[in-house]
Amino acid sequence: MIKIDFSNLMQESLGSYGLARNDFDSVSATALSELQQTERYPENAFLGLPDADTAAIKDTARYAGEFDNFLLLGIGGSALGPRSILDAIYPFHNLRGKNKVLMYDNVDPMTLKSILDIVDLKNTVINVITKSGSTAETIASFMILWQRLKDLSLDPKKHLIITTDPSKGHMRSIVNDHGLRSLPVPQGVGGRYSVLSSVGLLPAKTVGVDIDEMLRGAADIHKSCLNADLWKNPAYLTASGLFLMQRLKNRDITVMIPYADRLKSFSEWFCQLWGESLGKEGKGLSPYPSTGTTDQHSQLQLWMEGPLDKVVIFLAVEDYGTDIEIPAVFQDIEGLGYLAGHSLAELIKIEQEASEIALTKNSRPNITVRVPAVNAYYLGQLFHFFELVTALTGILLGINPFNQPGVEEGKNLTYGMMGKKGYEEKKQEFLKYRSQKNRLVL
Ligand code: PA5
Repeated sequence: MIKIDFSNLMQESLGSYGLARNDFDSVSATALSELQQTERYPENAFLGLPDADTAAIKDTARYAGEFDNFLLLGIGGSALGPRSILDAIYPFHNLRGKNKVLMYDNVDPMTLKSILDIVDLKNTVINVITKSGSTAETIASFMILWQRLKDLSLDPKKHLIITTDPSKGHMRSIVNDHGLRSLPVPQGVGGRYSVLSSVGLLPAKTVGVDIDEMLRGAADIHKSCLNADLWKNPAYLTASGLFLMQRLKNRDITVMIPYADRLKSFSEWFCQLWGESLGKEGKGLSPYPSTGTTDQHSQLQLWMEGPLDKVVIFLAVEDYGTDIEIPAVFQDIEGLGYLAGHSLAELIKIEQEASEIALTKNSRPNITVRVPAVNAYYLGQLFHFFELVTALTGILLGINPFNQPGVEEGKNLTYGMMGKKGYEEKKQEFLKYRSQKNRLVL
């Protein structure tokens, strides 16, 4: 199991900068049971994903695996989850194996042009992932690809797989009208909590990830996070520690730093989950993505001596699955020879621990998640664990961790300018803003 070391949040390590055990007495004892109440949080269905049936996903993945290329169109939770699985389990996946995976999660025209320049659509399956079925970015790229398929006389029924709401939304209607292949995003599973559903599992299974192992990992961590006593529940304790660190010590920023390149995308996935779930009603904790050791040479100075506003979460990998010894070359150069005979895994692990010690010595709170290995089983644990931590932290903060009302206004203004019916007022508002005379622009 992944193990969470909370020592460096506590007074024993940090003195007055740390938390006392009795600080936790003020944390709500009902957050976990509240999270489990579906009437209260209809979007808590991610809790059941570890036990969900995957037969349809596997069947569809077998079909998708027959194509040379897998092109994913989606954004937010519909892209970050799949990307973090592929990067963790199959680094450099496009340089090996048969199924090349391309992900288009923006509307930058140059990116799509580049993809279309290099990909032969005849040998490509296109997975359009949109829970709502109405996200402008995803729909725009879907419309472009639909037309391309038509132009090339390629059958959309053959080349498209739509992952969307089981019954509602425009994409579901298109699936029904055109008899397209599709998978449901289960009811009650929101975008950023969907990585262990068809959203993440179809792309993963298509390239050969053992999705049963991912779900087994998630199920195992789920069991260990069911205890209502926060001192016996790693997710509850992590949420409580981060919540208290903000409330009592003004630590508003959560740094996620995995010491593994393969988990860099995981750090980005976490940042969306954390930011979009918790930032509302003037409350929240700001996520900060990074990678060790790389960011030791970019951000660590700030974390060590900058404002006292962060909690750093280390992901410390125990077994990298391989190792490379540093050879005994340049022994005559003083200052280099000491590395010889050690290995890269040894160096990266020592650097992680050294950063942990240095931060702690400087009264900077941190948590270490010990990850036995970067494989499907432990990745499943990490996803489910941090989803639980996020939802529980949201409940402790007194906000709904499953909605995202703050992104609506920007969407509405965009709809207005792009001519969507019913948004004419938003267009006027947009144009008024654009034509303001009192802008300070140099
Ligand atoms: O977490 C969320 O709900 C969002 O970030 C969505 O994943 C994102 O907006 C994409 O939405 P959809 O899958 O409906 O296209």
